[in-house]
Amino acid sequence: MNILMVTSEAVPFAKTGGLADAVSALSVALSKLGHDVRVVLPRYYRIDRNKLEHVSGPMGVHCGYQEIWTGVYSAVLPDSTVPVYFIDHEQSYGRDGIYGIPEEPDFNDNPQRFSLLGHAALQLCRKIGWMPDIVHAHDWAAALAPILLKFHEAYSDFSATASVFTIHNIGYQGIYGKHLYPHTALSWDNFYAAGFEDWDRMNFLKAALVSSDKLTTVSPTYAKEIQRPEYGFRMDGILRYRSSDLTGILNGVDTGTWNPGKDKLIPVKYTAKTIEKKAENKKALQKRMGLPQNPDVPLIGMVTRLADQKGVSELFGPSYGSAHRICTEIDLQMVVLGSGEPWCEQELSTLNHTLPNFSAYIGYDDSLSHLIEAGADFFLMPSRYEPCGLNQMYSLMYGTIPIVRKTGGLVDTVENYNEQTGEGTGFILDHLTPQSIYDTVGWAAYAWYNKRDHVREMQIRGMNKKFGWDVSAKQYEDVYKNALLDKKR
Ligand code: ADP
Ligand code: GLC
Repeated sequence: MNILMVTSEAVPFAKTGGLADAVSALSVALSKLGHDVRVVLPRYYRIDRNKLEHVSGPMGVHCGYQEIWTGVYSAVLPDSTVPVYFIDHEQSYGRDGIYGIPEEPDFNDNPQRFSLLGHAALQLCRKIGWMPDIVHAHDWAAALAPILLKFHEAYSDFSATASVFTIHNIGYQGIYGKHLYPHTALSWDNFYAAGFEDWDRMNFLKAALVSSDKLTTVSPTYAKEIQRPEYGFRMDGILRYRSSDLTGILNGVDTGTWNPGKDKLIPVKYTAKTIEKKAENKKALQKRMGLPQNPDVPLIGMVTRLADQKGVSELFGPSYGSAHRICTEIDLQMVVLGSGEPWCEQELSTLNHTLPNFSAYIGYDDSLSHLIEAGADFFLMPSRYEPCGLNQMYSLMYGTIPIVRKTGGLVDTVENYNEQTGEGTGFILDHLTPQSIYDTVGWAAYAWYNKRDHVREMQIRGMNKKFGWDVSAKQYEDVYKNALLDKKR
């Protein structure tokens, strides 16, 4: 099959979160199954043109009120032959930030910027003379591509192309004033028909949920959760209506990048058979974070966007978050790597200065994220909701026991510890409250001090789990096949 991935992020070119990892790794996995997969994304200012190939000739994209002239560049995904095409348009993407910058987290011209992406993705296929069987769009920023297929291209050279839309995070929907709708270049008839209308505003994600042939999301549990009001961010009704077209497929892990036996970013490599070498990484992590190099105290790690989704209010919220109590009442160390909401960054700096056993690094740091996975004993992820979550899988593979909340992909990847039998791979908290985080971290520390044999068994069990992309890629293949079958009916 010819498969076009439309996305606003893909590693190693542009990343704010797991979306970037998932899109690239899925593309490579599908190409290994024999498909012709191509990826299209904007050429953000940070992506150096000099490292890309120029695809000759300008590309005119009819978009909104105007014909927009763009350039096209290309590259391939590392260790693969998957082509990546970059849409170059100075006015839209020639600036810092993917969706925004700290002073303007959501650029006010995002409806234009990401409408252009949708139009340009389809135009690109014509330019390079390659028509996809499947257009697979990811999250709201890529939503326009499947919508255009249904409403603009139903009788064009795309008439046999089916669309698949993946929800990586339903909390981000791309909601804007409807006066910006003309930028989509769709007619006003389609405003309702395509599902853009949302309480008199326009909602990109909603339109993709209504208009795409098939929908997927990134874990089976999240697929069920988003059909309920608690997790659906107002889209639960549509998703219940479309439930027969919705599949939950667990993300895999890019084992080329995340593998403790081969990881170039950690001081000492190790496997389940040589797990005792993990202690060297713990020592290095403690040193890097300025903590006492004590092997006997449990070390809790965190790598996260500092966003409400991740449970950071309950953990770090000034005066009510439990981190301070955890670090003063339980004998442990804690390291945090993260960036995001300013109040939370501020709170982390305060904890940094007040607690001798707490150390936070505010920022984005790939190598430190690997060192935390390798060096910590436990990994904390008390998410309010978690479509899939990658870090708990990295943790399991690195023998770092996850402490997670019972939601989304965390449910599908972590089994709760059973104190009687020693079974399980992690520690699970049910309800998200400061107290329950405190209790569950306390429970993990208790196991560390009193049931060390269980802790070791859990580490090994986690390390022996398989999280490769091969199984998931086959499931996507089935979704594509069904989308094409439905199309022919
Ligand atoms: P989400 O996409 O919701 O942020 P995921 O767990 O799916 O959550 O993916 C997060 C990805 O981003 C992981 O690869 C994680 O290591 C990485 N990450 C998040 N914050 C940072 C940071 N501050 N520094 C380095 N990597 C980070
Ligand atoms: C989103 C989700 C995360 C998921 C990632 C990749 O950012 O928040 O849970 O792992 O997308 O699908």
